[in-house]
Amino acid sequence: MKSLFATIMKEYEGYKIGKMLCYIQDPEIISFAGGLPSTDVFPLDLIQKTAEKSLKSDPDHVLQYSSVTGEKELMEAIIDYLKKDNIHIELENIMITTSGQHGIDLVGRLFLDPKDIIVADCPTFGGALASFELEDAEYMAKDIEEDGSDVKGMEAGIEKLLNQGRKPKFIYVVPDFQNPSGITMSLKKRLALLSTSKKYGIPLIEDSPYRELRYRGEHIPSIYSLDENQGNVIGIYTFSKILCPGLRVGFNIGPSEVIRKFSFIKGANILNTPKLNQDICTAFLREYDLDAHFKRARNYYSEKLNFFLKAMEKNFPEDMGVKWTKPEGGLFLWITVPEKINTLELFYAAAKEKVAFVPGEVCYPRGYLKHNTMRINFSYPTKDEIVDGVKTLSFVVKKYLTEKKKNI
Ligand SMILES: Cc1ncc(COP(=O)(O)O)c(C=O)c1O
Repeated sequence: MKSLFATIMKEYEGYKIGKMLCYIQDPEIISFAGGLPSTDVFPLDLIQKTAEKSLKSDPDHVLQYSSVTGEKELMEAIIDYLKKDNIHIELENIMITTSGQHGIDLVGRLFLDPKDIIVADCPTFGGALASFELEDAEYMAKDIEEDGSDVKGMEAGIEKLLNQGRKPKFIYVVPDFQNPSGITMSLKKRLALLSTSKKYGIPLIEDSPYRELRYRGEHIPSIYSLDENQGNVIGIYTFSKILCPGLRVGFNIGPSEVIRKFSFIKGANILNTPKLNQDICTAFLREYDLDAHFKRARNYYSEKLNFFLKAMEKNFPEDMGVKWTKPEGGLFLWITVPEKINTLELFYAAAKEKVAFVPGEVCYPRGYLKHNTMRINFSYPTKDEIVDGVKTLSFVVKKYLTEKKKNI
């Protein structure tokens, strides 16, 4: 059968983080590996109440096929919700997706021919890499800096490619509390990247799952809002991290010609997003006390983050040569260990000691691999697990370094 698979599928290995997560099913493992928001902040009563109400009052519609582009009530609720973030769009600029990963897939399908080039950060979101790999994409990637994308480097790279007659198809970034690094792009860089996008006519894809999850520092405008509806930016959003991931509802926003095409693609793959789940999202936006909800989520996560950072300081003294980011929000931070450590090897050693993380290598675009980094999710483990897990991680790193020394 394998010989009949499409060429691109023969070597395709899927979402690598997913595979790592399967490896660590052991319930005794303390996992810093997932990307999970905490179930403690899910608004369970709202979800139960809305599901019951929708099923009782409108079963014919709720259980039927529904519109490809999404429920009008939800789209209108989102349009109002986005106004608070200074984004002003019409119905023709939005389509409901079956969550962020679907939103990313639509972008890849719309823009990419095999071997087309994407401009990206190094590292970047592994799920986007898995999706774009389906289109056989190539990359021009630049190391992310403390204040976000290396815009100058990207611009130089774009110039070089244009001189070779190869125009990148889009720029993909996660400006707020990036998955995996936790880094946030400064306003200056957002403006610079937008102006790069305009200068070269290369669309900018702004993936924004974590925007509401800021725990400290100043709110920074989204690139979409900075573009003021000039059509250079496509926004990818999801309810996964602000409500819950199990509903699988998100939305893409952008120029109407792009949204129209997204709807044709969605019609041919997913068809529609379940109405029941959309109704829950509508109730979340229209009826729930969002300010109180986000405040609770932010307090909950920021406490975990502070706890994690303290544990890192305690267990990783400076002379170990381990560095980590100090995010202002989101769910992840990024650890860089000495170059002689291969974090994929370390992953297996750590799993034996009952602690897990994501080896950073799954977050590097094709052709830009590095081996000495790891992604940490601090939002899901309990405080006790954080204390024990970081201690174990430090032990595993020290042991690895000692064994390396012995083998030299
Ligand atoms: C940057 C980024 N984009 C998109 C997604 C996908 O989100 P969803 O769970 O809504 O598919 C994630 C999930 O972790 C993410 O971190």
